[in-house]
Amino acid sequence: MLAEKTRAIIKATVPVLEQQGTVITRTFYKNMLTEHTELLNIFNGTNQKVGAQPNALAVTVLAAAKNIDDLSVLMNHVKQIGHKHRALQIKPEHYPIVGEYLLKAIKEVLGDDATPDIINAWGEAYQAIADIFITVEKKMYEEALWPGWKPFEVTAKEYVASDIVEFTVKPKSDSGIELESLPITPGQYITVNTHPIRQENQYDALRHYSLCSASTDSGLRFAVKMEAARDNFPAGLVSEYLHKDAKVGDEIKLSAPAGDFAINKDLISQNEIPLLLLSSGVGVTPLLAMLEEQVKYNRNRPIYWIQSSYDEKTQAFKEHVDDLLAKCSNVEKIIVHTDTEPLIDAAFLKERSPAHADVYTCGSLAFMQSMIGFLKELKYHDDMIHYEPFGPKMSTVQV
Ligand SMILES: Cc1cc2nc3c(=O)[nH]c(=O)nc-3n(C[C@H](O)[C@H](O)[C@H](O)COP(=O)(O)OP(=O)(O)OC[C@H]3O[C@@H](n4cnc5c(N)ncnc54)[C@H](O)[C@@H]3O)c2cc1C
Ligand code: HEM
Repeated sequence: MLAEKTRAIIKATVPVLEQQGTVITRTFYKNMLTEHTELLNIFNGTNQKVGAQPNALAVTVLAAAKNIDDLSVLMNHVKQIGHKHRALQIKPEHYPIVGEYLLKAIKEVLGDDATPDIINAWGEAYQAIADIFITVEKKMYEEALWPGWKPFEVTAKEYVASDIVEFTVKPKSDSGIELESLPITPGQYITVNTHPIRQENQYDALRHYSLCSASTDSGLRFAVKMEAARDNFPAGLVSEYLHKDAKVGDEIKLSAPAGDFAINKDLISQNEIPLLLLSSGVGVTPLLAMLEEQVKYNRNRPIYWIQSSYDEKTQAFKEHVDDLLAKCSNVEKIIVHTDTEPLIDAAFLKERSPAHADVYTCGSLAFMQSMIGFLKELKYHDDMIHYEPFGPKMSTVQV
């Protein structure tokens, strides 16, 4: 436990973090990644230019400052972030450099207001926060289905929508992984470690992709949307590489499945509380794995499947979804094509979805932020709203 004086100083910095948090974390990333370019093998370079990552870190630092008397209340957030860190292979030895540059950024942004007392207090607080992450992540490393990055072979590559390709991969014989015995939780993601020779890239590029199925019968399956170039901005680095360069027979390195976006197993076998699966675009992938799970265990539970995509061509997994839903006795399937129909809003959800349901929703950060807002407006209980943004989840959290 930090000394009372230290905690008082940290709490006194809350107003400045509320105002300057993202300026501090932007400064932190810029300085650290300019002076330690080797870290671009871990951090997503595009995120630093355009992503919500600095905001996610600022939200987390602010949450830590506000809760410095009892950091255990942040445990669910720490675990969520810990899953991402473990998937990216962040190790205890990485923590000091982040602490060093975070303190330097606080000094740089606050200038003379960053008294030695404040800097010392934040130095101690960072260590306490880092220790919590390291402890949580240690357990995750122990529980991971395999250690580190392991080689897989691409065994199939198939379009499941006009802009989405599904990959099937199998562990290579030297990986030591037995595919048949992998207990995957529907909703989890794997992380790929690629090295695209594109866009003058010189670094490893790591990205998360949700598994489309918990079944390992044909291999591990994940689906990637092509992030096309637009408005003079380049295409997404890894999605372009996976769409245009990666071929059947190629090797790809994966870290073990991660994440806490999981269907509530206690509710699968009952029929009173419906399951609402609400996706946009490629966000359908983890929900497909969850639908498979529901169908496997109980086909009588009421299911609401709401899938939004730009148009019919970009609506992924059409036949597969229809086959699964056809096996169930109580299904409401709603498809929204936003080229001709309005975007999903609270009024739409009020009219088309049940008043009470266990909700799983997935898509872009913007889609997630809207859906969480609507679901709360409709008085869905927080415990019943589960979501996985395809970006930093902490940037959707309010502290
Ligand atoms: C838990 C989780 C699960 C995920 N699951 C899936 C999944 O199942 N399927 C899936 O397709 N994705 C998924 N994602 C997203 C995925 O991890 C990648 O973020 C996505 O593929 C984009 O990566 P990229 O390297 O192609 O794009 P990046 O290079 O990271 O670029 C991101 C975006 O920024 C744009 N951009 C690049 N440079 C600029 C610039 N200078 N200015 C403005 N814009 C720019 C790109 O066009 C692109 O749209 C998931 C993410 C998370 C966190
Ligand atoms: C106590 C210290 C740390 C905190 C509070 C923290 C916080 C976060 C948060 C909030 C996210 C976004 C996750 C999400 O919202 O879904 C994240 C992602 C990430 N973190 Fe950390 N982190 C810490 C330490 C580290 C360290 C030591 C490293 C490695 C040097 C690291 C590397 C990353 C990377 C690579 C990502 C993915 C985002 C990207 O590629 O840009 N983090 N972290």
